[in-house]
Amino acid sequence: MRPKVLVAEDDQVQRDVIADILERAEYDATRVSCAEEALSVLRAEDVDLLVTDMRMPGMDGLELLREAKRLRPGVEVVVMTAHASIETAVAAMKEGAADYLTKPFDKEELLVVVAKATERARLLRENRELRELVTHGASLGNIVGQSPAMQRVFELTQKAVSVNSTVLIQGESGTGKELIARHIHFEGPRKDKPFVVVNCAAIPDTLVESELFGHEKGSFTGAETSRKGKFEIAHGGTVFLDEIGDMHTNSQAKLLRVLQDGIVERVGSSQPRKVDVRVIAATNRNLGGLVANGEFREDLFFRLDVLPIRIPPLRERIQDLPILVAHFRAKISARLDRSAPRIGADVLEAMRRYRWPGNVRELENTLEQLFIMCDSDALGAGDLPEKLLEFTPQSGQFTLPLGGIVLEDLEQDLIRQALERSGGRIKEAAELLGLTYKTLQYRLKKHDIDRRELVQ
Ligand SMILES: Nc1ncnc2c1ncn2[C@@H]1O[C@H](COP(=O)(O)OP(=O)(O)OP(=O)(O)O)[C@@H](O)[C@H]1O
Ligand SMILES: [Mg+2]
Repeated sequence: MRPKVLVAEDDQVQRDVIADILERAEYDATRVSCAEEALSVLRAEDVDLLVTDMRMPGMDGLELLREAKRLRPGVEVVVMTAHASIETAVAAMKEGAADYLTKPFDKEELLVVVAKATERARLLRENRELRELVTHGASLGNIVGQSPAMQRVFELTQKAVSVNSTVLIQGESGTGKELIARHIHFEGPRKDKPFVVVNCAAIPDTLVESELFGHEKGSFTGAETSRKGKFEIAHGGTVFLDEIGDMHTNSQAKLLRVLQDGIVERVGSSQPRKVDVRVIAATNRNLGGLVANGEFREDLFFRLDVLPIRIPPLRERIQDLPILVAHFRAKISARLDRSAPRIGADVLEAMRRYRWPGNVRELENTLEQLFIMCDSDALGAGDLPEKLLEFTPQSGQFTLPLGGIVLEDLEQDLIRQALERSGGRIKEAAELLGLTYKTLQYRLKKHDIDRRELVQ
């Protein structure tokens, strides 16, 4: 979508020069000759940026600025002043103008100021939209998703918060199982009590009993002191049994007992201890399937599967991609303490087509890598890692005409088009072509293309 710019300038020649430059640089420019006309446009449609002269007959630029902001709080304003009236520019900045231009200014100055202001408008709009999504139920705490599947997950999660029932969370790796488990614990009545994570895949079978239920001093070689097990430690809180599908069948039997009657016995002691623990279990394996194969106890499965929550893989709810990307942009830029680069439509499209075997975790990690590696303010297809590159929209989009083509001519033609579109800026043209700045420079030389001659 081309950013919309409203140009308010009473001098027709100047107005046309400015609007023409903007239109050639891919802005959608609307021309008006006074503040009143500008306001009627603003009333009718949303505009990203208002570029206004300060001195116009009737209402002046400063008043227009105030009115515009009142009508459209999201609009950015750039004011144009004569050299002599720099104080009015300062006054405009105080009233919330994004920037000012001192007449006379050249094309480059205009384009730089307009690009910055429209980018700011776009970022603010994105933030506003993100906030709206959040208030409209596209997130539950820090869990984000707007697909119907995730809405269902949110519903079940919210139900789980207020009851004590055992929850079984199933989903592929990186789909947010632990995130949900933590939400259930930390939003619920047990939030001030411990949340204890047990990674069932990581405990050797011989140690499971002592890990979960504790042991008395001297109960086995190496047991030099008595120790509480995870269930005793979690008393009053929650035990999160992660990777439950990887637990050995022997250990499964021992777990069954505590789930049935809430009683644990330390290894080497026959004293039963009552514990008040809520259990949340998670697995990336298909527990029902494991039961069918005899690898998981059916009775334990039924004990766990009281409140089942299934999180679908990201590729099956790819409509969550934009909001997840927006969420991680904010999260990662806070973590790295720098502003996140813009993400091009081709990048998003490649992400949409990729399969994401590592799901949301892989998306977050990929974005963080991209942000760290990117040294410009925009991410283009050229920045993508190999795994995503093959999914960029460019590949396979052109069909070779019957008579064939001269590849060199096509390349020249595309480079010229990209330069036209970028208003002669090599960096942006390179982005459009998925090339690096250097490569494009090299090709310009090779084809003897003079960018200045193109854009004037
Ligand atoms: N819907 C979501 N919204 C925001 N962040 C998410 C979402 N889903 C996952 N994440 C993030 O992705 C990462 C992985 O999530 P988590 O550890 O909960 O996954 P998991 O399902 O437990 O994975 P594994 O099976 O590999 O243990 C975390 O950084 C988490 O914050
Ligand atoms: Mg996990």
